[in-house]
Amino acid sequence: MVKVSLFGREKETLDFTSIEAQSFHVAREIETKTGAGNDFLGWLNFASKLPEEEIVRIEKTAKRIRENYDTLVVCGIGGSYLGARAVIEALNGLFPEDNFEIIFFGNTLSPDYTAQVLKHLEHKHFAINVISKSGTTTETAVSFRLLKELFVKKFGEEELKDAVVATTDRVRGSLKFEADEIGYETFVIPDDIGGRYSVITPVGLLPIACAGIDIREFIRGVIDGEKMYSGKDFHKNPAYYYGAIRYLMKVQDNMTSEMFVTYHLQYQMIGEWLKQLFDESEGKDGKALLCTSATFTTDLHSMGQFIQQGAPVLFETIIHVRQPKEDVTVKADEKNYDNLNYLAGKEMSFICEKAYEATLKAHTEGHTPAVVLDVDMMNAYSLGNLMYFFFRACAFSAYLLEVNPFNQPGVEIYKKNMFELLGKPGYKK
Ligand code: PA5
Repeated sequence: MVKVSLFGREKETLDFTSIEAQSFHVAREIETKTGAGNDFLGWLNFASKLPEEEIVRIEKTAKRIRENYDTLVVCGIGGSYLGARAVIEALNGLFPEDNFEIIFFGNTLSPDYTAQVLKHLEHKHFAINVISKSGTTTETAVSFRLLKELFVKKFGEEELKDAVVATTDRVRGSLKFEADEIGYETFVIPDDIGGRYSVITPVGLLPIACAGIDIREFIRGVIDGEKMYSGKDFHKNPAYYYGAIRYLMKVQDNMTSEMFVTYHLQYQMIGEWLKQLFDESEGKDGKALLCTSATFTTDLHSMGQFIQQGAPVLFETIIHVRQPKEDVTVKADEKNYDNLNYLAGKEMSFICEKAYEATLKAHTEGHTPAVVLDVDMMNAYSLGNLMYFFFRACAFSAYLLEVNPFNQPGVEIYKKNMFELLGKPGYKK
């Protein structure tokens, strides 16, 4: 279970009593599915209702892909790739020993990145998992077209059917139509789960399984989360307690920003996933915190100055993982040119922990409070549990803010402008 602690801000002076009644109402709205966007609360109990046959099919497909190809291209954007990438990088690291490569594509319109990935794939026998709930997202659709063209050129039309797995809507969208026409294997994104809550569905599970990660452990963490983080009383429910703190930081302390912090470069994508979850869920009606992310100690050498002494506008939410998976010891050096012998015999985990303690003290004694989320160890189970914790916290604090956490009306505006400029039929210039 995630443990939540508050530093640098007297807990007693956050006015929790002001939200007691409202928070019970909000918790009830979530449980009874009666709040705004209530037809998108399928994630609440999705994992515990996931049929065994679906898990087996995901595992079998992943095995088939790993055995028959050397690379999987995950083609999707936003909620259709961030969760899977966050899990895969957090658990397998940035230089995985696995020979099977996973590439994320369809998440940009950058010509340079697109060209570079296509060149890289020239030498690969790749499979494609195209993921799009709407089936029409431009970044994903254009990239998928380019991937198919390359694949057919290299391996022929006949091979394409087996190389593509489409994760999309049950019935709607052009991707679903194409999948049915050609006969790609398909997985369904449930109607009642939006992109940013979809890492626990085949959207996340298939790429995660393809990366050799135990999805049963991940699902077990989510299912335990369903029990751990559902209590209505925020004093006893860590997810709602964290949701209440961040809401009060906003409305009572007038904070404008929350910075998600980790101390591990391989967790950077967890920060990206969190930014999408919170910014897209809450950033409406001129309300909400701007969620950002940073990796310490790396970013202490860039943003650290602002955090310590810049405008007092932000608080940190630190994902503090107590035990590393691996460790490295600093050895004594006879010459000691670098004067580091005082660290001889010490592990990197020890040095990193001292950096965490030193930074927490500096920032909280300055003007930057911190919420620390303690996680014992990062593995498939604890990451599933942590992600579900954030789902609950996000729904809770968004409802406290009185916004619908499950729509994203603002995202549509740039798309409409772009379609007009590109001359898409049906969009006037
Ligand atoms: O969270 C969301 O709903 C969005 O980020 C979507 O996942 C993203 O826009 C991609 O949409 P789609 O899956 O329809 O291609």
